[in-house]
Amino acid sequence: MSRIPLRPEKAGEDLAALTSPPDWDQLFGRAGSLELEIGCGAGGFALEHCRRDPSIRYLAFEWRKKYAREVSFRAQKHGLTGLKVIEGDARIVVPKIFAPGSLDVIHLQFPDPWWKRAHFKRAILTPDFTRVLLGLLKPGGRFDFRTDVEERARQGLAVLEKAGFHNPLGPGVFHPYDPEEAPSTRERRYLVTNQPVYRARLVRLSSAQGAVGS
Ligand SMILES: C[S@@+](CC[C@H](N)C(=O)[O-])C[C@H]1O[C@@H](n2cnc3c(N)ncnc32)[C@H](O)[C@@H]1O
Repeated sequence: MSRIPLRPEKAGEDLAALTSPPDWDQLFGRAGSLELEIGCGAGGFALEHCRRDPSIRYLAFEWRKKYAREVSFRAQKHGLTGLKVIEGDARIVVPKIFAPGSLDVIHLQFPDPWWKRAHFKRAILTPDFTRVLLGLLKPGGRFDFRTDVEERARQGLAVLEKAGFHNPLGPGVFHPYDPEEAPSTRERRYLVTNQPVYRARLVRLSSAQGAVGS
């Protein structure tokens, strides 16, 4: 995507400006699974996942405008009405636009590892934001986490489990590769080169979990 020019139209400007959760049924014109992706990058997963299941309502966040606008353009070009891209910082917008217990699935795939101490604050899986994400999932809702960085995989899984996400495979256990799942853009490369990818599929068990103040 590096040779693609920056498209002029901002992605998801109206959604990013919301200060409270909208009526998603009305906004998408239908009911269906409500899914969030944080950091969709070039959108390989989002586009393919929504192509395979047009009933999904999918909100993909990406703060790099070139990627966000291009993925949004491709979703429109391919008639993927279930996919909406929001250009902005997911950590700021997500808590405003999703009601507690409203999401069916959250996808976090290959988040930036932020190795420099000065960049730690940009991480998605901080204890505080992880608790926010748990509270936004429905009971039974799923968290899909993938990364190629072993250290970040183990840290991320520990933070998720500590926040209250349930790991059906047991604490600290990663999920095996599922060939039925669409790969992300970055993951496609690792599948070709056979590099290890660490995957976790966690669930929110009960409505008491992740309640504000708990
Ligand atoms: C390493 S890339 C992975 C992209 C994609 N998930 C994949 O697997 O191909 C991580 C992406 O997350 C985006 N990102 C990081 N923090 C973000 C945030 N707070 N809000 C929105 N996007 C973010 C980055 O711009 C980058 O495109």
